This record gives sequence, C-alpha cells and structure tokens, in this order.
Amino acid sequence: MRHPFVRALSRVLTRSLVLAATAAVIPLASAVPAAADGVVVGGFPVDVSDGPWTVALSSRDRFGGTRAGQFCGGVAVGRTTVLTAAHCMGADVLGGPPNRARDLKVITGRTDLTSAQGKEIAVRDTWVNPGYDKISNAGDFAVLTLAEALPDRSVIRMAAAGDPAYEPGTSATVYGWGDITGGGDYARGLRGARVHVLSDALCERAYPGSADGTYRADSMLCAGEATGGPDACQGDSGGPLVAQGRLVGLVSWGSGCGRPGSPGVYTRVSDVVRTMGWPTALASTNGG
Ligand code: ARG
Repeated sequence: MRHPFVRALSRVLTRSLVLAATAAVIPLASAVPAAADGVVVGGFPVDVSDGPWTVALSSRDRFGGTRAGQFCGGVAVGRTTVLTAAHCMGADVLGGPPNRARDLKVITGRTDLTSAQGKEIAVRDTWVNPGYDKISNAGDFAVLTLAEALPDRSVIRMAAAGDPAYEPGTSATVYGWGDITGGGDYARGLRGARVHVLSDALCERAYPGSADGTYRADSMLCAGEATGGPDACQGDSGGPLVAQGRLVGLVSWGSGCGRPGSPGVYTRVSDVVRTMGWPTALASTNGG
C-alpha cells in the first residue's frame, strides 16, 4: 500500500503536469482562479451519442496518453470535415506546424477518454484560417480533413447569418472534455453546459480590449449567464456551441471561466460559413 503522502504528492505532480501542458495548449488561458462557488463549467455529463458531432483532438506524442492525448475539441460539419479553433493548431500548442504533428487524430464516438470506445481517425489535412488574429482572437477557426468518412448522423448543420439561433436569449449548449473547475481538473468524460447567447452590446462591454482579446461582433459571439457559473474552460477550445440543433459557435476564449461579467467567447460559425463560401449542410454536398 502506498503511503497517503506519496499518493497526495503524486496527485500534486500529476496536477502540475496537466497544468504545465495546458499552459502550452491554451495560449489564451488566463491565470484567474475559479469562481467563488467552485462551479466553473457548471456542467453535466453527456453521452457522446447525444452530441455525436463532438470530437476530441488528440496527440499522444505531445500530450501523453492518460486522456488519449486530448488537448482541444472539434465538431464534424461534414463527413470528412471537422472544425476546430485556429489557436489549437498553433505552433505553441503543437510544437510546430500542424502538418508536422504526425500523430494528430480526431476521436469520435468516445464519451470517456480513458475507454477504447469509438474510433480514432487520422487527420489528412489541416487548414488554418489565415485571417486569424492572435491579438483580438478574431477568426479563430481551422478546418481538418479526415482520412476516413464519418457516418451522416455524426455531422451537424451550421447556422448561417440571420439564423434565429443567434438571437440574444437563445438557450445553447457547449460540449467538451476541458477543465471542470478552472483549477486544471480535466474531465475524463464528455460534459455539456447550458448557457444563453448574449447580445453583441453586452459582449462588447465585457471585452472592450484586454490581454485576453477584444470582442468583434462580426466574427465572434458570446454566451454565458449573468451570474457566472456554466461556461466552457481550458481544453474545451474548438468544441461546439449548439442552439436549436444547429452549430452557432466554436469555443475560443474568455477571461477565466464562469466568472460573472466575463462570458465565454466563441467563433461565430456564420462567419466561418461566409469565409469558406460553404453551404450550411456540407454532408449533402461533399458526401464524404
Ligand atoms: N482558450 C481555451 C482553450 O484553448 C478556451 C477558453 C474558453 N474560456 C471560457 N471562459 N469560455 O481551451
């Protein structure tokens, strides 16, 4: 039997390793501690079959095998097309250009990262939005092409500009395997958190410009709760924000996690659709 102190120490060591890894993973992470109530993501467990388009990005070479190498989220918008955040593909995260990350994979159909459920699919190509601006975080998206096609049911439709799903007050759910306390506690199982789409005026007031970023209504949307609580956090980046069954956002940034007055900021999916010149349902057009 191990001495309790050794166990505690190894817990601390594991914790700091995870934190050290995330500092690299999440360049936008701020060192702000968790909200006072300790419920940052304020989420609930989700079975991946209830959000089958949610995928995990993995590199065991870079992030180790404990949680299958998960370091960001992603979302399938076509049978071979996955959206994620541009900052997830940064050299500071991957240790070099994305095409050099040889073991970059997309994990689909796996609720618990420590299980062997679902499938790991190699990434055949990565395209990072050249318009991504690291200072404001505008245009934070990248497109991954999979080596193997997903089933149709694993693909979500994107919400185009003018879609009612973008209206302030709309209830939305964000999905991910990220930090659940703001203290480096990474989930093993997929989680969801319920938030509301907020008005651009409110988001602009929350983020007029700081070291974390600047709110830009044309390429971002923000969501959260006035009192803080449910939110995305480090490790959730690139993952989906879904409203009315359609994809409206990708987890991008925020000041801390779940803090009142600092909502989560997402890449506005209608801007991705516009930039790429895509139809909102890729599945039917590229079929695989
Ligand atoms: N930048 C973080 C990541 O790479 C996502 C942070 C989202 N923060 C928030 N409060 N919603 O995982």
